[in-house]
Amino acid sequence: MNIVLFGPPGAGKGTQAKELAKHYNIPHISTGDILRANVREGTTLGMKAKEYMDKGELVPDEVLIGIIRDRLQMPDCNNGYILDGYPRTLPQAEALETILEEIGKLLDVVLNIEVPDAELIGRLSGRRMCSCGESYHLMFNHPLKEGTCDACGGKLYQRDDDREEVVRQRLEVYAAKTKPLIDYYDKKGLLVNIDGTGAVEDVFRQICNVLDSYRK
Ligand code: AP5
Repeated sequence: MNIVLFGPPGAGKGTQAKELAKHYNIPHISTGDILRANVREGTTLGMKAKEYMDKGELVPDEVLIGIIRDRLQMPDCNNGYILDGYPRTLPQAEALETILEEIGKLLDVVLNIEVPDAELIGRLSGRRMCSCGESYHLMFNHPLKEGTCDACGGKLYQRDDDREEVVRQRLEVYAAKTKPLIDYYDKKGLLVNIDGTGAVEDVFRQICNVLDSYRK
């Protein structure tokens, strides 16, 4: 399966992508995770990206297009991929089409996870992360021991861009630059809307039902 997981910040793309990657045995490619790894490692790309990320702005298209071009050519993408957080602008979507054509791959479906803004703000401001990649929520998905990762025992922290004022900016950027892609993919017949407001497991089941219908 070749999948784009689409939706506003906090819609649950990362949460669902992790489970889907295990279930369908295809790689989860999160541009946010790739950029944050670069920030942690202090690479030139990471230092440049951090300036945009901390303000809730998008990192320039050419940076992201280069990342995706390289990543989709890795051998683990031979049986499919899950893109999470890419594309986010029209030039990124157009570049994806060109890249896929060049490397002989397809895009099967764009899953648009829908969640109202008020809920998104609550989800993001309550999110806590661990450096091992696990994600928790103060109300909906809390760790067994407060402030500590269940998986590795690491100390949980809040992402810099999950502060409420940055979350609001991310939502504005989403509405202005990313949301128009819904229409773009709908016109191409690739868009499927997913109700993202239920429990994590319910949203997962909904997505699997859609994906399994594509595999028949
Ligand atoms: P990125 O990391 O992609 O952030 P985002 O899209 O804003 O996505 P999030 O990770 O915040 O949300 P999500 O939908 O994955 O939700 P999650 O599953 O974590 O990007 C960060 C920044 O990098 C961008 O702002 C930009 O600067 C830059 N960037 C990245 N890609 C780029 C690109 N292509 N172009 C340019 N710049 C780019 O869930 C959120 C919370 O909700 C969690 O606490 C979770 O536990 C909880 N939750 C999940 N599902 C449910 C549920 N069903 N019910 C209750 N709670 C739930």
